[in-house]
Amino acid sequence: MLTINDVRKTFFAGTVNERVALDGVSLTVEPGDFVTVIGSNGAGKSTMLNTVSGTIIPDSGSIQVSGEPVTKLREHQKAHWISRVFQDPMKGSSPNLTIEQNMAIASRRGKSRGLSMGVTRPRKQQFRDELAKLELGLENRLGAKVGLLSGGQRQALSLLMATFSSPEILLLDEHTAALDPQRAKHVTELTERMVAEQKLTTIMVTHNMEQALRLGNRLIMMHEGKILFELNQEQKAGSSVADLLSEFQKLQTVSGEPTLDDATLLETVRVTEEGKP
Ligand SMILES: Nc1ncnc2c1ncn2[C@@H]1O[C@H](COP(=O)(O)OP(=O)(O)OP(=O)(O)O)[C@@H](O)[C@H]1O
Ligand SMILES: [Mg+2]
Repeated sequence: MLTINDVRKTFFAGTVNERVALDGVSLTVEPGDFVTVIGSNGAGKSTMLNTVSGTIIPDSGSIQVSGEPVTKLREHQKAHWISRVFQDPMKGSSPNLTIEQNMAIASRRGKSRGLSMGVTRPRKQQFRDELAKLELGLENRLGAKVGLLSGGQRQALSLLMATFSSPEILLLDEHTAALDPQRAKHVTELTERMVAEQKLTTIMVTHNMEQALRLGNRLIMMHEGKILFELNQEQKAGSSVADLLSEFQKLQTVSGEPTLDDATLLETVRVTEEGKP
């Protein structure tokens, strides 16, 4: 279980560039919950994940994982609980190491400082079996350098490695946003499957509102460092992309500033149109 209690973070406090990124965020995520997160640009979505992973230490408030206080722990100290896939496919794996070496390191996540890359034969077979699940033919390329893979392949591999040794919490920050629609769809399907199979407790930031509604059992919307509202499973099922869009439009009316970037808006319109008979 993850508990985020009144977490606040201001960047460049006291300067002209002061930015309140998190303005008192509280969220309790139960084991097995799959929370999707939407929100305007700069709403604080990534910062929230960053405080959970330990990339950013909050100014105040507290974070607990399974009852243990982890607020001030750094990323590497949380590695055995928390796993993460980034938006950038280049980030989750090491290009100069082989697929097998990357997997060997990932499978030791949080356990040891040593970079033991020796892989036994049964282990190799296990890696092949895991890779086969990605349906990308990577099981036959264990010795290939990861730098040779496409963005979609690397992202699928990152996802696989992030779910190794069943992390307590899986954080996904727009992890399909940099992929073309077809690859994004594949990685989304893999995500659904892996989360369901391992019953992973997951927080997924996405700008894809159709996805935010369809995946997971809870949806939260953030704006200006706050969680504006939450939808439970039933409310999610009863909501449409148009409903979510109108929430963004309301915010825009209040602030007078665009709450979504053009790419998000265009994609949302495209998805809405495709869904029409
Ligand atoms: N490391 C940082 N240093 C300074 N300012 C930051 C940093 N990270 C985030 N911010 C600022 O904090 C605010 C929240 O940013 P954050 O990246 O969390 O938003 P987001 O909801 O993820 O937005 P996006 O949809 O653009 O990814 C923004 O104003 C951003 O400029
Ligand atoms: Mg972000």
